[in-house]
Amino acid sequence: MRIDIISVIPELMQSPFEYSIIKRAQDKGLVEIHFHNLRDYAINNYGKIDDSPFGGGAGMVLMIEPIDKCINKLKSERNYDEIIYMTPDAPVLNQQMANTLSLKGNLIILTGHYKGVDQRVRDLFITKEISIGDYVLSGGEFATIVLCDAIIRLLPGVLGDETSALTDSFQDDLLAPEVYTRPAVYQNKEVPKVLLSGDFKKIDEWREQNAIERTERIRPDLLD
Ligand code: ADE
Repeated sequence: MRIDIISVIPELMQSPFEYSIIKRAQDKGLVEIHFHNLRDYAINNYGKIDDSPFGGGAGMVLMIEPIDKCINKLKSERNYDEIIYMTPDAPVLNQQMANTLSLKGNLIILTGHYKGVDQRVRDLFITKEISIGDYVLSGGEFATIVLCDAIIRLLPGVLGDETSALTDSFQDDLLAPEVYTRPAVYQNKEVPKVLLSGDFKKIDEWREQNAIERTERIRPDLLD
């Protein structure tokens, strides 16, 4: 997979890609991440990429020309499966969307900033809009990191144990069951006995039941 990220502040996103699972995925050649600074496509030598909104109002709007230039340069080099815009006024990311995107080859992610982008960018270039939740961040950079992490960990070969993504919360619309490790007793709190029994059929049944109970208690909306 190849992900091209377009942003006004790509530096904000670099370090999360330099550690742990996402780093290993790149080292193994399972994903390539490329950052593009929108200012490199500015409309003048002063690096202009935004302007005040027509009709008045607070904040600045990212202009269409720099984004057009950047996206079209990328599109002239390869085909893209999706051109994604991260914005709070969009459908909210869920596990199924991450699963679907993890099957794609090449993605562009445009991260919004300021008051957002000229609507014509969304109408002309964007194939999918994604929010990471019903709250507003100061820019789409952190949302982009969240989306990339959710996708990359699903790529075959990224997680050591091939089955571990399948037992995540949400993969079957249930929260994951509780997990425990040593010591078996801590401050009088005992690990559920069945987990120490070695009876894997019973353990599987307990985990399934525990996942259902937790979902009913914490996220009943998932069971609707
Ligand atoms: N940009 C600002 N807030 C956002 C959000 N909640 N999701 C995606 N992009 C955003």
